[in-house]
Amino acid sequence: MLMDVSPRISLTSQGPEFSRIVYGMWRLNEWSLSVCERQELIEAALELGVTSFDHADIYGGYQSEELFGEALAAAPHLRKHMQLVSKCGIKLISSRRPEHRLKSYDTSFSHIVASAESSLRALRTEYLDLLLIHRPDPLMDADEVARAFMVLRQEGKVRHFGVSNFSPAQFSLLQDRLAANGMTLVTNQVECSLLHLAPVYDGTFDQAQQLKCAPILWSPLAGGSIFTDSGPVAKRIRESLTRIGEQLGESATTVLMAWLLALPCQPLPIVGSRRLDVLRESVRACQLAITKDHWFELLLSAQGSEVP
Ligand SMILES: NC(=O)c1ccc[n+]([C@@H]2O[C@H](COP(=O)([O-])OP(=O)(O)OC[C@H]3O[C@@H](n4cnc5c(N)ncnc54)[C@H](OP(=O)(O)O)[C@@H]3O)[C@@H](O)[C@H]2O)c1
Repeated sequence: MLMDVSPRISLTSQGPEFSRIVYGMWRLNEWSLSVCERQELIEAALELGVTSFDHADIYGGYQSEELFGEALAAAPHLRKHMQLVSKCGIKLISSRRPEHRLKSYDTSFSHIVASAESSLRALRTEYLDLLLIHRPDPLMDADEVARAFMVLRQEGKVRHFGVSNFSPAQFSLLQDRLAANGMTLVTNQVECSLLHLAPVYDGTFDQAQQLKCAPILWSPLAGGSIFTDSGPVAKRIRESLTRIGEQLGESATTVLMAWLLALPCQPLPIVGSRRLDVLRESVRACQLAITKDHWFELLLSAQGSEVP
């Protein structure tokens, strides 16, 4: 019998501890929920043991953090039961940021600090558990980023730091500069699903395993397109999922998540659905050990040919 409570995992040997299944708040503003409904959704996630919530300053056109923060302000006792992640470094054109003239990246000291402080205000929290640089910035000065992280940590505003969408070389560069200041990156948040296998092969997951630094995976269901895309790859994946799901008596979502969770770099998938059933089916996957035969069958369905 599989349990409906997410286990916990430490991103590195020095923490932080997160729920193995993370809840993604990118689409929160699309869900059109009242403050009360948002609070209920957060409480339901916490009941499933899903205590880690993934945000970014830019989500919902700079609105999603505020929507979450309103719910947290209505139930401030929930804060101590959750971990909040945010990201910075992308500048979007938005009426909420009239000073932005074009979409660009900014990993300067002043932008990182100002963005983190803005996230704190929006989320109505005193601290972030984790702040990520959202995208690699060709103008990133690693020493400057390290200095911003140091100040945010010293001021108690952010407890841990990481990156997102970084190549292994970009990760190593920043990691080295942080290490010189007694700090460490705790994750690289990257896209991965059966429709996006790049980090399995490009060294990202090898580095994560080498450093014992668990990656966080975005769009694990490929934003839903595994279930909806009419192309041949998604169709093949769905057929395999249905076959394996029937054998195991589990849903396609549970089997998909189990496939990701079987990766030895210990990844934490971020679920982006507003439906609690999808969250529950993802949590069940934490206890479903799929066989290597099933794992490679799904890989074959995604790649269209057997391994060389
Ligand atoms: N670091 C980055 O650069 C980055 C980029 C993108 C996202 N993220 C993070 O990753 C999180 C997850 O991303 P995501 O939302 O793309 O994840 P996802 O879980 O792969 O996709 C969620 C989407 O799939 C749909 N879906 C789920 N099951 C479905 C089914 N059986 N049939 C049809 N549609 C289905 C959901 O719709 P329903 O709501 O109707 O279920 C929702 O729209 C985001 O919230 C964000 O926190 C990070």
